[in-house]
Amino acid sequence: MRSSEAKDHSVAGAASGPHPEPPPPHSEHTRGSAGGVRGCAGGTARPGGGRPGPGRLMEDPRFPQSPPDMDDLHVIDSDVSAAVGRVLEDHLAERVERACALDPVFGRDLAERVARFTLDGGKRMRSRFVWWALRACGGGPREAEAALRVGAALELIQTGALVHDDVMDDARLRRGRPALHVDVAAQYADTVPQALGPRFGEAAAILAGDLSLAWADDLVATVGTAQVAVRDLWSAMRTEMVAGQYLDLHGQATASRSLARAIRAACLKSALYSVERPLALGAALAGADPARGEALCAAGRRVGIAFQLRDDLADVFGDPRRTGKPVGGDIRAGKPTYLVALAQARAEATGDRHGLAVLRRSLGRADLSDSRLEEVRDVLVTTGARAVVEARIERLVTQGMRHLQSVPLEPEGRQRLRDLLHATAGTTPATPSSAAAAPVAPAGAPPGEAPPPGTQDDGTHTSFLLAAGAEGAVR
Ligand code: IPE
Ligand code: MG
Ligand code: MG
Ligand code: MG
Repeated sequence: MRSSEAKDHSVAGAASGPHPEPPPPHSEHTRGSAGGVRGCAGGTARPGGGRPGPGRLMEDPRFPQSPPDMDDLHVIDSDVSAAVGRVLEDHLAERVERACALDPVFGRDLAERVARFTLDGGKRMRSRFVWWALRACGGGPREAEAALRVGAALELIQTGALVHDDVMDDARLRRGRPALHVDVAAQYADTVPQALGPRFGEAAAILAGDLSLAWADDLVATVGTAQVAVRDLWSAMRTEMVAGQYLDLHGQATASRSLARAIRAACLKSALYSVERPLALGAALAGADPARGEALCAAGRRVGIAFQLRDDLADVFGDPRRTGKPVGGDIRAGKPTYLVALAQARAEATGDRHGLAVLRRSLGRADLSDSRLEEVRDVLVTTGARAVVEARIERLVTQGMRHLQSVPLEPEGRQRLRDLLHATAGTTPATPSSAAAAPVAPAGAPPGEAPPPGTQDDGTHTSFLLAAGAEGAVR
């Protein structure tokens, strides 16, 4: 298995260039103005200068004119992230300009930060899912621009989700840089009384996240009211994500160790908006028949859950230089992850008193030392929880791939989706020979160990979410 691509860890190169007046925020994160977007003081951000204001998209020789033709389509195919980036630059340039006209402090502190966060980071995974689902389902030039816009809107949703998430999780680092609320607080460290600074930073981040979500909705609205399916999927997705984040917080506050609730939260807070819904949106834009839409949704749900399980593993065992987030945050916050719930259940089932004591005294301890964190890691390994989660990821991905294979799709689109799904879950595509040699990873405990009753990986905890034709179907 290759090392995990942790959730949205990608750390893009920092924007450079002078920050516009008034005086710059303090941190590295805010030193440049929003990438490729004209800031409140009229400066541009990207090294080499930003592109001119709104209307640039169609002037860009690399971007398809309306309606795009097959050649344009191949340009997008060859670099989907860049095409989505151009839509984002265009949309955000206009939004930042308007924000700055409303008020330069608002524009600089919030609008530019949202633009910069969105333009300068992220793997564009959600927008690539939309694109390749569209292409796999036979979508072409007519739907290209709508797909890029929906993809760009998903990137803005991701900005809002992460900015809010870092406030809720009290996380200080994102993509290797200060989280937005930390960054705003640092900017005003000399002007806002010390006791109010953190609260001010958090309040500002709530607004920045709201702004991002509003701008995402604005972008989807440009896709056209005729797209009822897109609108319905979008609306469902927006609510699901909030539900999932609430379940995550609820489980944390109530110290839940329920396996079923952990998987439900992972599905709602991550799998749906990160994988399943983007695939469904691409399929809907292509006008895919229900069978194809449902197969993509089924694949997306499984791989989406695997994605969150991988993120949970990376939070405990990952390298912060790769994840861009501090290690051990979930343990110190007492997050109700499947990994921890599994360790607890297995320690209980085997009467592992040491393991239970370590979990009891460590979970939710914000001041947990690194050596105590190491003890928790040991328990996650010795109980078999880590191995079971890894096996679960493999199994979910294998199932997802079967769904992807179960319907006719355009060959290149199918191949790209397969690669993207594997990258998302941090798994390695099976070669034909390895697939024959090792059909499906056995469910359950690490090799040679009988799983304690009720804690085996038999699909019990996910089956209710994975029922065929469940809420994820393309409508
Ligand atoms: C966040 O889940 C899910 C959303 C942003 C909706 P996590 O809290 O596990 O994400 P990270 O680990 O901070 O990226
Ligand atoms: Mg969270
Ligand atoms: Mg978080
Ligand atoms: Mg996480």
